[in-house]
Parts: sequence; C-alpha cells; structure tokens
Amino acid sequence: MSEHTETDIKHIRRAIELAGLGTGLVSPNPLVGCVVVSQSGEVVGEGTYLKGDVTHAEVIALMKAGTKAAGGTAYVSLEPHDHHGKTPPCTEALINAGIARVVCPIEDPNPLVSGKGFERLREAGVEVLTGILADEAARLNEKFICWHRNERPFVHLKLAMSLDGRISLKSSVSTALSGETARRRVQELRHEHDAIMVGATTAAVDDPSLTDRSGKPRRRPLVRVVLDNSLRLPHVSKLATTTAEAPTFVMTNCIDPERVGPLQEKGVDVIPVEGGARNLQGVLAELKRRDIQSVLVEGGTAVAGAFIDAKLVDKVTFILAPIVIGGSEAPNAVGGSGAGTLADALRLRDLSVTRLGDDIEITGYPGN
Ligand SMILES: NC(=O)c1ccc[n+]([C@@H]2O[C@H](COP(=O)([O-])OP(=O)(O)OC[C@H]3O[C@@H](n4cnc5c(N)ncnc54)[C@H](OP(=O)(O)O)[C@@H]3O)[C@@H](O)[C@H]2O)c1
Repeated sequence: MSEHTETDIKHIRRAIELAGLGTGLVSPNPLVGCVVVSQSGEVVGEGTYLKGDVTHAEVIALMKAGTKAAGGTAYVSLEPHDHHGKTPPCTEALINAGIARVVCPIEDPNPLVSGKGFERLREAGVEVLTGILADEAARLNEKFICWHRNERPFVHLKLAMSLDGRISLKSSVSTALSGETARRRVQELRHEHDAIMVGATTAAVDDPSLTDRSGKPRRRPLVRVVLDNSLRLPHVSKLATTTAEAPTFVMTNCIDPERVGPLQEKGVDVIPVEGGARNLQGVLAELKRRDIQSVLVEGGTAVAGAFIDAKLVDKVTFILAPIVIGGSEAPNAVGGSGAGTLADALRLRDLSVTRLGDDIEITGYPGN
C-alpha cells in the first residue's frame, strides 16, 4: 500500500458507502462509488453507479465537480475501467478532467481488464494509491468478485433455527421460527441477491412466495429457483402461479411431458441440468448462463447440507431464535454427509453477530 492519510481513509470510506447505494440496481455489473476532492481539500462531487447502462460513478462525480476537479483527487471504490464498452473509459474522463491523484482500494477482478485502468492513469502522469480499505471494498463487491474469480454465482446460505439447531418442528412441516425484526432482515438479504433457492420439499411444504419485500427498487426481479428432480412443485403453488411478477426456475433432470407441461403453462422455466439438480456445479453453471450473479440459498436441511458438502458456500447466515425444540423428530438445520472430523467441519471466520429483536444473526465466511 502506498502512503496515505486519515483524510484518504475518510473519503474512500464515503466512496464505498456511495457504491452501496447501487445494491439491487447494478448486477451483474459492480457497485461503484466516487468522491472528487478539489486541490484545496473540498468535496466537489460525489457519484454512485446506479443502473446498468447509464453514466458511471466517476463521470457523475466529475460532472458535479466541473472545473474544480483539475489538480484534485478522485476516490473510487473499484478500479476505473479503461475499455470502450457501453460507455467511454472512466480513465479517460479522469485524465481529461485534470485529476492529479486517484485513490482506489482494489483492482477490477475481471481478468480482461484487471490492472489496466491503474496502468493507463499512471501512464498519463496521474498518481495512483491502492490498497486502502481493500477488505471493505472487496466485501462490498464480493458477489462480483466471486463471479469473475470462480466463474459461478456467489452462494450465500441462510437458515433460521432454534437454539438447538432445528429448522422446524417436524420433518416436512412449515414452522416460522424468527420474529418480525429478523424477517425484515431476511427481506434485506433477498434484496442483495439476484436469485433465491430452495429444495423441492421446502417448496412443496411451505408453499413460499420467495419474493423481495424489502420495499427497495431493484433492476431485475428476484429469480426463484427450486431444486426439484421429480418436478414435485405443484402447478397451483405460489411459485408456479406468480411467474408474471417474478421468474421461477425449476432445475431438474425430469423430462416427463406430463410433469413439465403444466408448469411450463404457468410460465415456470423448467431447466434441465446434466446430472440433475444434485449436480450443484451444473445448477450454478445454468444460473451463470442466465446472468445470475448471486444466490441466497434458504434451505431446507438437505439442500443446505448438499451445498456445504460440495464446498460451494461463500457466506453463511444463521438466525437463531431463542427457543429450544428438542425431541427426535425435529430436523437439524444442516443435513448432507457432514464432517467426519472436526478439521473437516465448516468453520466460519470474520464473524458478525447482530441482535434482531429477540433473535440473533450470526454471519461469517467459510474459513477452511
Ligand atoms: N428454518 C428455515 O430457515 C427453513 C428454511 C427452509 C426450509 N425449512 C424447513 O425444512 C424442511 C424441508 O427440508 P428438507 O431437507 O426435507 O428438504 P429440502 O432441502 O427443502 O428439499 C430436499 C429435496 O430437494 C431435492 N433436491 C434436488 N436437488 C438437490 C440437491 N442438490 N441437494 C439436496 N436436495 C435436492 C430432492 O428431491 P428430489 O430428489 O425429488 O429432487 C430432495 O429430497 C421443511 O420442514 C421446511 O419447512 C426451514
């Protein structure tokens, strides 16, 4: 990391905050925020990248700054791009505005453009400082980064459970465990993602609508995905009868026209996956093909276990309700084959623990 000041940290923090305002509006593009500070240290322009094809954050901030940008510093949350895409390169806009210094935490993870923006700026004589608040900036764009580095959607597993780790009273019974605050938090999580996924049993038993009810605008509707090899999803279910409001994808290996037909008539997208929905790599590849950058996996037990066994989980959120269910009939939160040794168990790092009314949210990242 190059030399930087407390002021640099303050402005980069603000650029990251501005970038976050694009949540729900920019996928599959990255979240980007920009602050332009004049030579005399005054904030003269701020910008957020808000929608697919429109002006980039740097250009919005530079437009607001006008001539005051000359000789100043641009704080950008992600490397400015140097390629001619739908919009002219942001590097060119920064250079033409006379920006003397660019402070930016991280490179663009897209291997086709990574590092090229910084290179272009340096060639033009602009001082470039990188690495400041790099972890925060990377976290904000974790879905975009995963998409480019792992070439698959980001997978966030979310489960609500009792203190003794059960997700419902009995197998195949719908049980609302969390309180109102936690339920609102789940809507926020849904808002951050492009798709939400459940197993065939949850879809059949709970008859969920799986919609984004955060009340916030989103550019593309939340896609509902069901893993369902036998096409058990009833054609009268909420997921099948509300496809005009949000798409429903069913990932399957079933080609029986008597099962496929009634779902397709309702507008459900029945997607054949090689090896069926048990092939989670295949499922994620089909979602990537459809530009889905992130998936919130909401259970149930079997699906949660399958993702953990396959080591395809990038982030985990457990919401603990202050109840103990006990007994032998209530299913555990996570099924699958499980860990043979403690060393094999999924261990979370970078934990955050948040009180949600009487419930507790624990979020972390797989650390092994
Ligand atoms: N508290 C919570 O947060 C929460 C959240 C969701 C669900 N639940 C509860 O969980 C219970 C259901 O859990 P569950 O374990 O019985 O069922 P599930 O995980 O919802 O669905 C399992 C079914 O999905 C299909 N499937 C397709 N691909 C799969 C894959 N890759 N991995 C695993 N399954 C795959 C299989 O059926 P086919 O072989 O027919 O395809 C399998 O039997 C319900 O009681 C529900 O209310 C609780």
